[in-house]
Amino acid sequence: MRTPVIAGNWKLFNTVAESLALVRDLKALVADAQGVEIVVAPVFTAIHAVAGELKGSTIAVSSQDVYWEESGAFTGEVAPCLLKEAGCAYAIIGHSERRQYFGETDETVNRKVKAALKAGLIPIMCVGELLEERESGKTMQVVAKQIKGGLADLPADDIAKIIIAYEPVWAIGTGKTATPAQAEEVHKSIRSLIAALAGTQVAVGMRILYGGSVKADNVDELMGQEDIDGALVGGASLKADSFARIVKFNK
Ligand code: 13P
Repeated sequence: MRTPVIAGNWKLFNTVAESLALVRDLKALVADAQGVEIVVAPVFTAIHAVAGELKGSTIAVSSQDVYWEESGAFTGEVAPCLLKEAGCAYAIIGHSERRQYFGETDETVNRKVKAALKAGLIPIMCVGELLEERESGKTMQVVAKQIKGGLADLPADDIAKIIIAYEPVWAIGTGKTATPAQAEEVHKSIRSLIAALAGTQVAVGMRILYGGSVKADNVDELMGQEDIDGALVGGASLKADSFARIVKFNK
């Protein structure tokens, strides 16, 4: 009932030429994949070219961030309507690297989610706890605060359009994946929280992705969990064959 989403976050990797080569290979490898939404998130400078290359394919494009204003004196920022024009259908918002290195807060995430929705982009809103927060038993407290903050003031029908990505910070780029049971526990709690915020129907339909060292050899087990509806993939999305294998997960 929930269409799975497999999204590749390329982070700060790939030139325009490298991005184009990657999606050309990927297009061929996933052409026969069915029942899955496939998304790639290149750096800003490659979005337009990648979207052009992917026109008519089954692969959609996301940005890795977005600003909340549509235009104005905001040097260095990129507006949601411009991302949409460049070919994006999705926007990753609140990635832990942005929270950690670029001062992203629940409040800025909330502004960005609202602006993305207004422009017709699907937000992929990221949440996740630090290692010390997990070790001190605060995982759900932290994740709930991020979700409530990120979704503040949004009506249920807007919440229904959003994708949430649970990415435990300690599992990102470390090769240390959350066990399927650890991930499922958090995903289930997130779904209950969404039910409390926006009703059961919205919660049942919401796609909740897992991110953090997802690879070709652990995706099947993760996707086998009831409340894991997809993956947000970093490192393993930079190679066409490994990302294609993740897209073709066995549930
Ligand atoms: P890795 O898959 O490289 O751990 O990165 C996960 C991530 O941050 C995706 O947004």
